[in-house]
Amino acid sequence: MNTIIRAILDRSSEPRLKAPAPPRDVLELALACAARAPDHALLRPWRYLVVEGAGLERLGELFEASAPEDATDAQREKLRKSPLRAPMMLVAIASPVSHPKVPAHEQAYSCAAATAYLELALQAEGYGAMWRTGAVAESAQVREGLGLSADESIVGFIYTGTVDTPKPAVPRPAVSEFVEDWPG
Ligand SMILES: Cc1cc2nc3c(=O)[nH]c(=O)nc-3n(C[C@H](O)[C@H](O)[C@H](O)COP(=O)(O)O)c2cc1C
Repeated sequence: MNTIIRAILDRSSEPRLKAPAPPRDVLELALACAARAPDHALLRPWRYLVVEGAGLERLGELFEASAPEDATDAQREKLRKSPLRAPMMLVAIASPVSHPKVPAHEQAYSCAAATAYLELALQAEGYGAMWRTGAVAESAQVREGLGLSADESIVGFIYTGTVDTPKPAVPRPAVSEFVEDWPG
């Protein structure tokens, strides 16, 4: 089987990650793969933040600040610690530009495609990756703390590092479950 297809078929999110993080040369390669995403009108409508070390602690503080007023101490602590689940995080940001033919949602699709390539490339280089979103991705405190402009959005927090314990296999749908000929 073609090695690219094999890599895609073998891909899986890996939530249990540990140090070491991907080194800078691997990161550079994976981000170069991200930049090969289909991109209508070549707008390059994405950017990435690389967060490591003390940055993960600061991000945890932002996550904690996003907690609802009635959050318990345990919930706040969970939020504060969540970026520390991996030695590195990449924040995928859809950064749309105004264009007469390419609406912002298409540009966000491009960022999502880029991020999927990024995850695949990290995996191909032997590292695990886990895409996470949730309320923190929508939070005004997190957005502001990370320096997003009003028209930007967080497409995902990509946790990455060395796989600690591989995740059990995820059931995959048969192609026939989601494809049909049209018109029948
Ligand atoms: C846009 C997006 C957001 C996601 N957000 C989360 C999340 O908040 N928490 C989580 O556990 N997984 C999240 N995931 C990862 C999925 O849970 C994961 O891809 C799914 O369980 C299938 O597993 P697989 O990636 O191994 O195929 C997200 C994936 C995408 C594409």
